[in-house]
Amino acid sequence: MPARPAGKALLATQRLALREFHAGDAENLHRLNRDPRVMRYIGDGSVGTRASATAAISRARKHYRDYPGLGVWPAEERASGAFIGWFCLKYIPATVEVEVGYRLMSRMWGHGFATEGARALVRYGFDVLGLYRVVGLTHPENLASQRVLCKAGLRDAGWGHYYDRDLRLFVAVS
Ligand SMILES: CC(C)(COP(=O)(O)OP(=O)(O)OC[C@H]1O[C@@H](n2cnc3c(N)ncnc32)[C@H](O)[C@@H]1OP(=O)(O)O)[C@@H](O)C(=O)NCCC(=O)NCCS
Repeated sequence: MPARPAGKALLATQRLALREFHAGDAENLHRLNRDPRVMRYIGDGSVGTRASATAAISRARKHYRDYPGLGVWPAEERASGAFIGWFCLKYIPATVEVEVGYRLMSRMWGHGFATEGARALVRYGFDVLGLYRVVGLTHPENLASQRVLCKAGLRDAGWGHYYDRDLRLFVAVS
């Protein structure tokens, strides 16, 4: 696949632009990950450090090289350029499953941004990458995220065991 020009959006929706992470995004990513409301249903719920944000960006950039077309991408509001959070479409480690995910700044919640981005990424996965199946996983109490996955076209498939824990599983097939 030819290299994508620097700065060009991977994907644009009506209100969002997704592009690749670069080192200059560490401060925004840290602001996202240090919010306990954002991290409530992620892992053990602990907030991230500045160093972990920098390391996550390095991993994201390696992922672009290792798995072209897949990844974790920061999202900006097209109208204002404001950092909204990130969206991802990536392999779940040690499986053949591709997962759609998102993490948004809490001040950006409730505007339909998660649904808009997730819906576009599922379409991109099917239409551009030729995926057969995309899954979504949530903590059982993360009802907002479950609602987002359903609105993005995934169906409730019960439970799955991923990341060493039992999670609610949602599935879309092309
Ligand atoms: C989950 C998250 C992405 C939702 O973002 P968002 O932009 O507010 O989502 P949307 O506006 O597209 O849709 C949210 C939906 O959930 C609903 N919702 C919100 N809180 C809810 C709750 N506590 N219970 C049930 N539904 C809820 C909203 O009403 C809306 O549905 P509606 O349009 O039918 O009314 C956001 O809260 C977030 O980033 N959380 C922290 C990180 C996270 O948990 N990521 C997901 C990990 S699986």
